[in-house]
Amino acid sequence: MFGKRSPSGVATPNPPTPKPPAQAAPTKTKANKEKTEQFNALKMRLHRKLIDQLDLARMVGDDDTLRAKVKEMVGRLADQENTLLNYNEKQRLVNEVLDETFGLGPLEVLLSDPTISDILVNGPKQVYVERNGRLEVTGIEFRDNAHLMHIIDKIVSAVGRRCDETCPLVDARLADGSRVNAVIPPLAIDGPSMSIRRFGADPLTWDDYIAFKSVTPEIRDFLSACVKARLNIVVVGGTGSGKTTLLNNLSSFIPDTERIVTIEDAAELQLRQPHVVRLETRPANIEGKGRISIRELLINSLRMRPDRIVVGECRGSETLDMLQAMNTGHDGSLTTVHANSTRDVVARVETMVMMAGFDLPLRAIRQQFASAIQILVQAQRLPGGSRKLISVTEVTGMEGDVITMQDIFTFEQTGIAENGRTCGRFVATGIRPSFFDRLKSAGCGMDPAIFTRQVLMTDDGEEE
Ligand SMILES: Nc1ncnc2c1ncn2[C@@H]1O[C@H](COP(=O)(O)OP(=O)(O)OP(=O)(O)O)[C@@H](O)[C@H]1O
Ligand SMILES: [Mg+2]
Repeated sequence: MFGKRSPSGVATPNPPTPKPPAQAAPTKTKANKEKTEQFNALKMRLHRKLIDQLDLARMVGDDDTLRAKVKEMVGRLADQENTLLNYNEKQRLVNEVLDETFGLGPLEVLLSDPTISDILVNGPKQVYVERNGRLEVTGIEFRDNAHLMHIIDKIVSAVGRRCDETCPLVDARLADGSRVNAVIPPLAIDGPSMSIRRFGADPLTWDDYIAFKSVTPEIRDFLSACVKARLNIVVVGGTGSGKTTLLNNLSSFIPDTERIVTIEDAAELQLRQPHVVRLETRPANIEGKGRISIRELLINSLRMRPDRIVVGECRGSETLDMLQAMNTGHDGSLTTVHANSTRDVVARVETMVMMAGFDLPLRAIRQQFASAIQILVQAQRLPGGSRKLISVTEVTGMEGDVITMQDIFTFEQTGIAENGRTCGRFVATGIRPSFFDRLKSAGCGMDPAIFTRQVLMTDDGEEE
């Protein structure tokens, strides 16, 4: 996928062939390219003229009126230019200048497309997007490094952060909740790079999960009962596997009457309950001071009389505090851990606790883990792009030094469909969780028949 480049140097006898631009979009011909360059130059000229003539501070009105006024100005400026633009080209020009002035320039077209889930900018001349779990290259370009830097700056300064030589790695978010990470030179070798993970205004819901065959209604109802019965649940998965989306959806089962505190590095969760306090970490300032970590927020949250604590991701020293909180009365807490399997998560937690400098024997860490966590739910991005909840596992306790677990529901992969998507089926393993009675006494009882060994849903890999 990343190999989609223009067909390079067709073999000629004596090859003084100029090297084709390494990052040109596949379909771009030379004439096309010249036209784009002229168009971009014109756009830049208009934008400069507009800035010269515009005095936003003295313009009054709401956003829409301002936009309309500026649109009219750009239209006039475009007419003054001696170019042969047809009606559509002129409209495009005016819109792009407006995007540049009011929005995020070339990104605006991508941001207004709801089918795009991720936008990946690799330097000014290469932009990929993800649609339906697949990456595709776009023809979108920035003028140059400086232009891209300007857009990055616009994004990060809006959340009170900076991105420059002293601070070349930065996390931010867009107004719609999308998460942004930018890395700039010298760390990013080929120009500023930016990854936008979108959490549009409409995050995926349980209905979407079921429509996408990411989960079955039985598993959803079981998880709902577990959240309501205040079991501690950890979502496990690799990068981009859907952990945060799942955490958000699990959180939606928390009753409206409870006080929820959420703690995240960059606020992504979108809880619908009325009583939510959202906390977000803060990076160090220019002198390297003032950093507030997840751990500090977590410790503080215990003093905020929470009914539930939802931590976006445990990835460091906060892990032990999270286990302790879960063990000491803050049950019903939810979090995610980056790990490739439910078995792997134990090793990850041990590493995180030890790396944080706590001098605890392994056995003690495992005991904390086994008594704190009741359920692990694993999210995975499968070959072909679909994402699923591939297992729901109960942590049953310890045998000797080993944590014991049992799968209650799993997704069994059976093959790959012609379109490259994964086929398989969700099954109940036949094991009834040991906390079944606890669900009942919490008023979340369910028909034990769903735990009998059976196929709950098959997925033949067809796209919805
Ligand atoms: N079940 C699903 N079906 C289709 N798309 C999904 C599903 N779950 C999540 N996604 C999409 O996958 C992308 C990544 O999801 P998400 O951010 O939840 O993953 P993550 O594991 O938290 O990623 P990270 O490791 O970066 O924190 C998002 O665009 C989200 O909308
Ligand atoms: Mg995440």
